[in-house]
Amino acid sequence: MSFQHPSFGHIADNRIIIFDTTLRDGEQSPGFSMNLGEKLRMAHALAALGVDVIEAGFPAASEGDFESVKQIADNVDGPVICGLARSAPKDIEAAGKAIKGARRGRIHNFISTSPLHMKYKLRMEPERVLELIAFGNKESRRYTDDVEWSAEDGSRTEPDFLCRCVETAIANGATTINIPDTVGFATPDEMERIFTMLKERVPGADQVIFSTHNHNDLGLAVGNTLAAVEGGARQIECTINGIGERAGNAALEEVVMALRTRHDRYGMETGIETPRLLGMSRLLATITGFDVQPNKAIVGRNAFAHESGIHQDGILKHAGTYEIMTPESVGWTSTSLVLGKHSGRAAFRDKLKALGYEGLTEETVNAAFQRFKTLADHKKIVFDDDVRALVDDESRDHERVRLTSLELQGGTQHAAQVVLDVEVDGEARHVSSTGNGPVDAVFRAIGEAFPHEATLALFSVANVTEGTDAQARTTVRLQEGGRLVDGQGSDADTVVSAARAYIHALNKLLVKRTRGEPEELSV
Ligand code: KIV
Ligand code: ZN
Repeated sequence: MSFQHPSFGHIADNRIIIFDTTLRDGEQSPGFSMNLGEKLRMAHALAALGVDVIEAGFPAASEGDFESVKQIADNVDGPVICGLARSAPKDIEAAGKAIKGARRGRIHNFISTSPLHMKYKLRMEPERVLELIAFGNKESRRYTDDVEWSAEDGSRTEPDFLCRCVETAIANGATTINIPDTVGFATPDEMERIFTMLKERVPGADQVIFSTHNHNDLGLAVGNTLAAVEGGARQIECTINGIGERAGNAALEEVVMALRTRHDRYGMETGIETPRLLGMSRLLATITGFDVQPNKAIVGRNAFAHESGIHQDGILKHAGTYEIMTPESVGWTSTSLVLGKHSGRAAFRDKLKALGYEGLTEETVNAAFQRFKTLADHKKIVFDDDVRALVDDESRDHERVRLTSLELQGGTQHAAQVVLDVEVDGEARHVSSTGNGPVDAVFRAIGEAFPHEATLALFSVANVTEGTDAQARTTVRLQEGGRLVDGQGSDADTVVSAARAYIHALNKLLVKRTRGEPEELSV
């Protein structure tokens, strides 16, 4: 490829641009909303991970979205900062203003191109869509030279029309062309063919980067992404932990490790610092309250666990027998035994660093250290996962409701009774309540301290590590109207962990309420 990209200059033929859309496609899916502080934290961590482009949000969707894209553009160095826009003047203006402070900023404009979407969603003739493609790209170029255009539902678009659309986008200033498999319908061979076709047939195709964006409705997002690379795509759109609309997007950690582990086949390079992948995945899980499943590739708890005797024997003789990449290469540390009750603050800080926690405030480190000391009194051995669980609890920013203390009485002879102290917007509240068991009593007490309409939709408890002295990790899902949020909490005391999880969920609900739901995406 010989052209100069406006943001990246000359790009080697085997360099894959990693476009992370965790904060846009990922964040817009139910239960995954983040507040401004959380988005900034994610964006800084994504920059340290080495992503090339951060899609920071959809500025026209709400004031909150505009502000978070702007703050990320103004404060996060390294990656290109991108804002999404429909082919409409007010969207493009909002995106242009939001990315203005970025050293390198991109506008990503899109419109649907499939017969189904044009007829039922847009209610537009193909010729009108072509006009809007021309408008969207020309208008975006008024704000930045780095313009991406997406054919929404591109994989279900008629090939001849898709070629005309792409040609129009390029002729009007697009420098990246993204073909999404919006509904996760395509198969890998189809995806590969779309890109080879576009590169062969469209005039100007050698002057742009082709990009792939795949949803996981049939579990094919990563496979389709790799197939698109074989067809000539050089930008991959993906999200941490594969979060995103419905079944999610292609998981960043999976595509990156597939390219790296199978370098023999793809011969491609990314700029990702792979040892940061696990920390990144955990940061997102902490912020959103959604853990990945244990068998999740790369970052799941079992991804490098070898249970069967035959496998363990093989691993001891030669790791390559059952491991295709080293656990360390994606951030797993080999020792999990860590601290005890005599460990001091310096050892605790060292451990945080080794676990990939950076940029924590002094207040968070101190609060986490205090909780570690209490835990170490209960539990002789404190494992890495214990440390992660309590730091994750303490590192949530901007929480309006905070647990101060919780006292509990119960057993076979007495009704469960709790005395609860919380702070709401800095104001102390003290309540007591009884209930049908300790968890019920705690949740009622929270309802008295902070009255709300939300109902409990899910309550589940798991152990963080092995043993009867293990910390409990609780997940609470709250529902209020159409809003659904998950909260998590951990503690050596199961009831306290339930209280933390409930309060975490409540805080997330408050963020959603103030932010409002994004507008409809139709043009
Ligand atoms: O899935 C999709 O089509 C999208 C576009 C807005 C790129 O997310
Ligand atoms: Zn998408």
